[in-house]
Amino acid sequence: MAIGLIILAIVIWCFGFVLLSGAPYLPTLKKQIKLAFDLADLKPGDTIIELGCGDGRVLLAAERAGLNVVGYELNPILFIIAKLRTMPYRDKVKVVFGNFWRKKWPQAEAIYVFLLPRLMDKLDNKIVLEKLGDIQVISFAFKFPKRQPVYEQDGVFIYSFKGPKIKS
Ligand SMILES: C[S@@+](CC[C@H](N)C(=O)[O-])C[C@H]1O[C@@H](n2cnc3c(N)ncnc32)[C@H](O)[C@@H]1O
Repeated sequence: MAIGLIILAIVIWCFGFVLLSGAPYLPTLKKQIKLAFDLADLKPGDTIIELGCGDGRVLLAAERAGLNVVGYELNPILFIIAKLRTMPYRDKVKVVFGNFWRKKWPQAEAIYVFLLPRLMDKLDNKIVLEKLGDIQVISFAFKFPKRQPVYEQDGVFIYSFKGPKIKS
């Protein structure tokens, strides 16, 4: 009984504390994952970053599309699940534990997010500050308040960020 309560408290804490720095866990639907990769202008060998990769389902879809992918996850339970699910593809899929706001992002052609409306402006500023050059940003469900998407369909928004690149 006591062990059960401790486990429950740990699980609640893992899913709850993420709210302090990001969005709660909710997976992107299969249909929208497919749509996101259909709409984005990506080719095999490109790299995509997923900010808050949940259980790894988008990472797996990216791998199936021939992409290299780096996912960040702050919830330790989801991080372990994503890590285990993508283990067979670890040459192309990297799962990083931690807060993506505080990480140095790699060079990439695209970013995938499913966050919260209140975080979209902060994310816009962070992407600009990262100086990743021209990069596509795929957002499921939520728009950037100050930008126009280049495509939008069924809750999938594709943005084209233009800017200087300082990373090699
Ligand atoms: C709405 S879910 C989306 C999950 C996944 N991207 C998908 O579309 O299926 C948001 C995810 O981001 C994670 N997250 C939120 N804030 C984070 C942060 N600051 N750093 C890393 N992960 C974060 C949450 O734990 C959760 O798994």
